[in-house]
This record gives sequence, structure tokens and C-alpha cells, in this order.
Amino acid sequence: MDQKSIDAAVTILRAGGLVVFPTETVYGLGADASNASAVRKIFAAKGRPVDHPVIVHLASDHDLSRWASEIPPAAEQLAERFWPGPLTLIVKRARSVINEVTGGQDTVGLRVPSHPVAQALLQAFGGGVAAPSANRFGHISPTTVRHVREELGDRVDLILDGGACEVGIESTIVDVSGGTPVLLRPGRVSEEEIEAVLQVPLARPDAGSPRVSGTLAAHYAPRLPLIIASSGMLDAVVRDYASRHIVAVLARRPRPSYSSATVWMVGPRDAAEFAHYLYAGLRQLDQCGCTVIIVEAAPETADWAAVRDRLGRAAVGSTAQPSSAASEAHAG
Ligand code: TXA
Ligand code: MG
Repeated sequence: MDQKSIDAAVTILRAGGLVVFPTETVYGLGADASNASAVRKIFAAKGRPVDHPVIVHLASDHDLSRWASEIPPAAEQLAERFWPGPLTLIVKRARSVINEVTGGQDTVGLRVPSHPVAQALLQAFGGGVAAPSANRFGHISPTTVRHVREELGDRVDLILDGGACEVGIESTIVDVSGGTPVLLRPGRVSEEEIEAVLQVPLARPDAGSPRVSGTLAAHYAPRLPLIIASSGMLDAVVRDYASRHIVAVLARRPRPSYSSATVWMVGPRDAAEFAHYLYAGLRQLDQCGCTVIIVEAAPETADWAAVRDRLGRAAVGSTAQPSSAASEAHAG
């Protein structure tokens, strides 16, 4: 990334504009986190409800006290181990953090990304950059500049190109603002890795947990209805749907010669590689002229937790009317 683009991006951020920048997870739609009207522009560009909090991106953990009123030992340990990297920590907000960023809650989400372009931007800017994923609300997060343009068009002032995002799905979110650390969103940094650092099991979100829009039901969703089928049921579900639909499949094995699917995409067998391709793959299937996407369920092992989570959310809210065989598969 050339210094001229970074300088231009910093000028725009200082003037209260919007800059899309690459991170190692997905592209972010950034604004000056201290500027209320700038942050409000993020919500307008995304079409996102204004009471949803946004993550503040920082160059390093050096000025955490500017953003957090309390930095519990768990936050320190996780920051030390995983920053810069694909982990977001929810901590008690400092008083100066604006409501546009926190969604009016008493906490703030902080993340130090590792992507060199994000780092260059954050270091040059100096302050915090509020940034959700650079997609329209509820859609799949963009992992390339082309996807950003499809989502946001000219609703932003500048897009920094950092190529395809390495991780491909959004950061792991851990809430360390209360007693027991809570896993709010699984990601590349796994539950096991976090528990190994904290030496305590992570809790699951309950009714009292803060809102995470990425954990809403229909989220991370393609345009087409998405059906999940267990590996064993995949061929039967495809056959069933093909009688009423033009079927696109995303599986981890090659297409059988007898399959009635119109499009068959083979995803990587490794969980991290699958995550890297997932959103790009779903976008491609969304535009392939089919009327339904059927995805082979991810394995039940720990390394697939984040992919299972995103597929599950993409599938909720599907409009296809599955037959009984397919609805069974849908549950798995
Ligand atoms: O990988 C990522 O995290 C990307 C890149 C751009 O950093 N960002 C991202 O932002 O995924 P977004 O807004 O699409 O998802 C962040 C999630 C949202 O669901 C939001 O509700 C939640 O984090 N969040 C942010 N601040 C929070 C807070 N104080 N308490 C609870 N949840 C919070
Ligand atoms: Mg998002």
C-alpha cells in the first residue's frame, strides 16, 4: 500500500468521512470513532439500526485506557496473546466513548487488527477507527474490494485495497466486561486457544449478554435461500429440491455423476481454508442463476465451530419450503 493512499484515507477520516479498509478477517467500513456524525454515516451507509454497537480498531494496546474504564486481567492476557489479530474484546467503556459507538451500552468492543494496511492506516491516523464489516446490514461480509463495491457502491469516500482477506470470516468476540468471560461470536481464534490462555471455560451468551448484531438470526445471509444438509443426506436433499428448484451446492466432496444439481462448488477440506473461501463462494453461488443454495453441513469438530456458526445464521430465515426430508436435514 502506498503512503499516498494512507495519507488520503487519514485526511478523509479526520474530515469525518468514510474509509473502507482491509483487515485480516473481512473489510471494515471505518470512521473516526470520536466523531459522532462520522459514526452515524456508517449506519446510514450500511442501512444498520443505530442502536447496534461498532468495534473500535486501534493500532496497538498502548492507549486502551482512553477507551476502557477497566482492563481486567483476562483482557490483558488475551490482548497480549492474540493482538494484533482476529480477536475483539468487549470491556467497560471509558466515559469519553460516544454512544454512537457503544449503542448506548456501558461497554465497548476493541480490536487491534494485524493486516498491514489496517496497521498503516491506524498508526497514521493515531485515534480509534469505528468499523463494522463493510456490507449492507444482514448481508455477507466482503472479503475483497469487488465485494465491497457490490455492497456499498459509492456510499463511501475511499476504499483501500488489500487483496483477499486471509481469515475470511469476522473476528472472535469475547466479552470480558463481567465476571466470567463470554464467547459472543466464534472465529479463527478458537474457544480452546482462549481457554488455554484464561485457564477458565468460556461461558455462552445468555439473556443478559450484550447485543451482538452478528448473532441475530438472519445474518451473514446470501440473497438466495440457503439449506444445510448433513453429509449423509446431501444427495437426497439435492434430488428433492431439484424437482422444484435450480440447485447450487457447496460441498466438501466432488459432484457425483448422478447429481441433479445445476452448480456444484467444492470447498476446501480444511476448516481455516474453508472459512477463507466461504463468503466469496456464497457470493458466487448467489449470482450463478440458481434458486437455492444447499450446503453440506460442516463437521461437528471444534475447528469447524466458526464455519458452523456462520452457515447456521445464513440458513436461518430461508424462504424455501423444505419438504420433510429436507427439513430434517436442515436441522442438522
Ligand atoms: O472481524 C471483525 O470483527 C470485522 C472487522 C472489520 O474488524 N468487524 C465486524 O464488525 O465484524 P461488525 O459490526 O460487523 O460486527 C461486530 C459485532 C456486532 O455484532 C456488534 O453488535 C458487536 O460486535 N459489538 C460491538 N461492540 C459491542 C459491545 N460493546 N457489546 C457487545 N457487542 C458488541
Ligand atoms: Mg457485520
